[in-house]
Amino acid sequence: MNIDGILSASYIVATVLFILALGGLSNQETARRGNWYGITGMAIALIATVLGVVTSNYEILMAALVVGGSIGLIAARRVQMTQMPELVAILHSLVGIAAVAVGFANFMDPGKHLAGVELTIHDIETYIGILIGAVTFSGSVIAFGKLSGRMSGKPLTLPARHWFNLGLLLAAIWFGYQFVLQSAAGGGMQPLIIMTAIALVFGIHMVMAIGGADMPVVVSMLNSYSGWAAAATGFMLGNDLLIVTGALVGSSGAILSYIMCRAMNRKFLAVIAGGFGTGGGTAAAAGDQEGEIVAIDAEETAALLADAKEVMIIPGYGMAVAQAQHIVHEITQTLRAKKINVRFGIHPVAGRMPGHMNVLLAEAKVPYDIVFEMDEINADFPDIDVSIIIGANDIVNPSALDEPDGPIGGMPVLECWNGKISIVLKRSMATGYAGVQNPLFFKENTRMLFGDAKDTLDAVFKSL
Ligand code: TAP
Repeated sequence: MNIDGILSASYIVATVLFILALGGLSNQETARRGNWYGITGMAIALIATVLGVVTSNYEILMAALVVGGSIGLIAARRVQMTQMPELVAILHSLVGIAAVAVGFANFMDPGKHLAGVELTIHDIETYIGILIGAVTFSGSVIAFGKLSGRMSGKPLTLPARHWFNLGLLLAAIWFGYQFVLQSAAGGGMQPLIIMTAIALVFGIHMVMAIGGADMPVVVSMLNSYSGWAAAATGFMLGNDLLIVTGALVGSSGAILSYIMCRAMNRKFLAVIAGGFGTGGGTAAAAGDQEGEIVAIDAEETAALLADAKEVMIIPGYGMAVAQAQHIVHEITQTLRAKKINVRFGIHPVAGRMPGHMNVLLAEAKVPYDIVFEMDEINADFPDIDVSIIIGANDIVNPSALDEPDGPIGGMPVLECWNGKISIVLKRSMATGYAGVQNPLFFKENTRMLFGDAKDTLDAVFKSL
């Protein structure tokens, strides 16, 4: 078999492994295996490309691999679970800038001899690859800034911003036409550079316009874009593996965006159009208070739990901040040993990234069979004796149902107030991510257990 045959065979094996990886990642029990499929597939793809495609300058390639690999390794080791979304955002920006760099390098390649229709098709692939790459790059950098708190999460709503976007789109199409014309005559660099600048501005403006509450959708949308940028680059380079991998990333990102939009009851186009949601949590204004709150201490909480038959634990972003998942597991074990039925209710956008809570609970070795999705358990709350809400806020906010026109109106939420008693663990009366007051805290059957979730749960565990 010649080198091309080995290369194609390796690429097919890598493709199959990537598909198996996606299948594996769809389920908690198989996620670890799925990860290994992905790692193996990527290793095969890298080795096959280095040995089969690259023919010279191995030293430079190795130096780049060592530098890039080390930075990735250090970043992944250092990152906190709560910083994961911003890491993902900044990694997408690298895919985007890589697509732009490869596009320009390929366009300037003196060894490329295409003519007629072939040249036109190749030019369009190059143009689209750079366009999506540049949007992904600048959009992801802004998403990183917003998620890491370096920039305000408030949506930037310029007057006539939709017309501005439309203008940018039309300009990109016109310069694309110019690019194809000029490239056939041996030029084309100028429209390519102008389009890149337009795409960068579009990426910045698009993500600036999107408010804090919609950021999760934006990250998965940028994930999808980075996939399409890679697929376009694959067409440009004639690399089948890049096309397939890019399409897998692009379509799975698009599906995830759709699922998240549905979970937050938002329309995808409305998210992209922007202008929704505010920055991070803020102290609720005094005027927002809507009645009395009843505080409770750790001993009383432990007593309520010990007397319960049915307990529902609702984790949110605050559990991740407090790193309380291990103590949550210990309390769960203790309660289950007392024959109390303990279940976990997981909202699809709890925390700051898809599956955030599931990852933390799996890390703490909470058994999968007591962890339920919102849709599976929301109807069971009338039978629940005690719901423990650990650092969650927006996902248990009744105003999502009671005020359809409010900032989070229409988002499905965990209806814990239908149970006998809800105990909310948080440090203050501050709002959650969407920046809206939560009427749950003022309900008659709600108790507030103030303090860092890990400290208060430690105390509850001792009392138990
Ligand atoms: P949030 O609504 O953000 O509420 C988290 C609460 O945790 C805060 O009100 C905070 O109150 C409390 N908290 C923070 N640190 C704590 C600690 N150490 N101990 C105890 N409590 C602590 O979180 P949620 O209910 O999980 O809802 C998620 C929100 O994030 C939604 O609005 C969602 O749209 C958005 N979002 C989701 C994602 C994804 S994909 N999951 C990504 C980005 C954004 P105190 O400050 O008073 O303690």
